[in-house]
Amino acid sequence: MEHFLSVAWQAARLAGALIRENWQRVHAIEYKSAIDLVTATDRASEETIVAHLAKSYPGHSILAEEATAIVAPGSIYRWIVDPLDGTTNFAHSFPHFAVSIALEREKEIILGLVYDPLRDEGFSALKGEGAVLNDAPIRVSKIGELDKALLATGFPYDHREDPDYYLKYFRSFTRRAQGIRRAGSAALDLCYVAVGRLDGFWEMKLKPWDIAAGALIVAEAGGIVSNFSGGGFSIDGEETLASNGLIHGEMITALEEAEGEGE
Ligand code: IPD
Ligand code: CA
Ligand code: CA
Repeated sequence: MEHFLSVAWQAARLAGALIRENWQRVHAIEYKSAIDLVTATDRASEETIVAHLAKSYPGHSILAEEATAIVAPGSIYRWIVDPLDGTTNFAHSFPHFAVSIALEREKEIILGLVYDPLRDEGFSALKGEGAVLNDAPIRVSKIGELDKALLATGFPYDHREDPDYYLKYFRSFTRRAQGIRRAGSAALDLCYVAVGRLDGFWEMKLKPWDIAAGALIVAEAGGIVSNFSGGGFSIDGEETLASNGLIHGEMITALEEAEGEGE
């Protein structure tokens, strides 16, 4: 497992250097949909990471956001890569984005690494071995009430079509939490829950590359990751709810009440 982590770190550092070199430049932007962007740096970061992983593990499958779906027949391993989580931030030179790399073995995530190249912060976890920030072990916060909690969320790229659907959850938490942040990188939101800078996080319609690494890091730091009703979490599911565990029940209640209120 340590070998997998050191290869993931090498890939993340190569991509991180590229992102750091480019973040203050003016970017040529392409649109995947009205507000879903991609830049040349997303693509270059993906090419860098995929090339490094494929060279190190030619028999592994790789899924990455922009263009890569390598299916290695018979492989039990699959890398899941977001080459730049926080693209809208990056495109505006808003300094908050990361590289996310996870490794799945027989459908179970066994490694997660999220690297913030501007702060040089690498959050990582190996299944069953705890989570670290760079080399230091991390734990979720001890905040025990939603009333005292700092939360984060984000909105899927279809939020223009039905804003009220997402805002009902935001409204519910606005009434109950100490504060809410919408910083623009789900991978970092999850890591901030893991390290105790945030106490909880919810979001809908995230993709496997947004959450595979971060969810393991939260769990290994002592937190809980589930769907909105507290049931089993899946990287292919529609709902992500992560917390320090202590406020998880109150967060589920707030989500259920929002659901009951309608739009
Ligand atoms: C996005 C970010 C954002 C979240 C979006 C994601 P991208 O990923 O994680 O915080 O709200 O739902 O799609 O497009 O920047 O890789
Ligand atoms: Ca993403
Ligand atoms: Ca991305």
